[in-house]
Amino acid sequence: MTRCLLAVITLFGLCGIATAQDTPVNFAEHVAPIIFDKCAACHRPDEVGPFSLLTYSDVRKKAKIIQRVTEQRSMPPWHPEHGHGEFRNERRLNDAQIATIKRWVESGMAEGDVAKLPKLPAFPAGWQLGKPDLVVTMDRAFQVPATGRDIYRNFVLPLNLKEDKWVTAVELRPSARSVVHHVLYFLDTTGKSRAKEPKTGQPGFGGAGLQFGARSVGGWAAGRTAEHLPLDLGLHFPKGSDLILASHFHPSGKAEQEKTTVGLYFAKKKPERTHIVFQAPPFFGIAAGINIPAGKKDYKVRAKHKVPVDIELVTIHGHAHYICRTMKAVATLPDGSTKSLISIPKWDFNWQDSYTYKEPVKLPKGTTIDVELTYDNSADNAANPFNPPKQIRWGQQSTDEMGSIIFGCVAANESEVGALRKSSLGLPFKLKQPN
Ligand code: HEC
Repeated sequence: MTRCLLAVITLFGLCGIATAQDTPVNFAEHVAPIIFDKCAACHRPDEVGPFSLLTYSDVRKKAKIIQRVTEQRSMPPWHPEHGHGEFRNERRLNDAQIATIKRWVESGMAEGDVAKLPKLPAFPAGWQLGKPDLVVTMDRAFQVPATGRDIYRNFVLPLNLKEDKWVTAVELRPSARSVVHHVLYFLDTTGKSRAKEPKTGQPGFGGAGLQFGARSVGGWAAGRTAEHLPLDLGLHFPKGSDLILASHFHPSGKAEQEKTTVGLYFAKKKPERTHIVFQAPPFFGIAAGINIPAGKKDYKVRAKHKVPVDIELVTIHGHAHYICRTMKAVATLPDGSTKSLISIPKWDFNWQDSYTYKEPVKLPKGTTIDVELTYDNSADNAANPFNPPKQIRWGQQSTDEMGSIIFGCVAANESEVGALRKSSLGLPFKLKQPN
């Protein structure tokens, strides 16, 4: 009887699939909802996508390449592997959506009934999170040439805070969205970066990523929507600190001027729970002995982090330069079970993004987090900045390497935050001999 029932269900199931495959797909009803929801935010005028995908003719013109990039999952850009951590705002097509696009392209790209076309989503022009508590703008524009290599530039924005603040969200508004690819935020309480900022001429100074003595406070990547930290958390911005924007520009074919505006949202009072950030390996791997021989294909950096008290993990992101290929972090709980926290199977230096868990991930005291990063310094790696390959060591230039996974968390019991903070410093560390 059970078998019979199963057979019937299977048969119905198969029929269901068969009909779905036979139904003709058209743009208005089947493809436009996917494109509007998952692509249009970046593929519209003055945005970072290299062409618009807002109309039937836009999409039809690019249909073949759209089929290819969606099947390869290189668009929409989303780097964490599905099933390894559940993140907010996951920018990913499911298998059915990819199949729908493929069928539409292969069946002749019918337009369908335009009356059934969904509305284009509203793309808010103003502040997405409402009026910020503090707005700061670069004092003059940076000239981005029409063509040439990608540019990495650091800009110092004095905040002139008269007292310590806790920042729940940072919203970035580029003036030339089509050329701003991503921006990493750093906080400098030392004034060192401010001293490097030229008073005249092009604003900012060169170099990518890490500023010494500066603390990483998140970032923005094209297409990203600003959001408040979960659990009413705030990042501590001490009085007198400067915000540094480490900006990556991708010339668009047209000369542009970028004068970035940033909005900061403050917590009304000091948050009850303390947001703690730790890295594995610590300090972007400065002590991990990173020294990658020319031609080496599968160079590994491994690190372990012991969780000292019960914690809840809220955010995670990776940082490395060009030749990093993969990143992963796996937690082994005291009961021996494991939880994959993130896996980035194809690291892309140009898409540095940070991820917030849908629900904070609870990790009990005694959990071990194992991090593994791999690097490919061979000529087969299209992202290799050197041709022929050269030995690459740890360093701050983007053609050097570094690497770590950066975790944002809270102590499950705020009373234990002291021990958590101490372990987050990654001290003491032994300088490992370059291997
Ligand atoms: C977060 C912003 C963003 C989203 C969302 C996005 N794209 Fe893109 N897309 C880009 C950028 C930027 C480029 C230029 C290449 C690059 O920087 O990776 C690009 C390039 C492309 C290209 C050209 C690729 C090539 O090899 O020349 C295609 C096709 C494309 N996107 C299609 C899509 C489709 C289809 C979607 C939705 C399913 C989508 N994109 C969603 C930002 C985005």
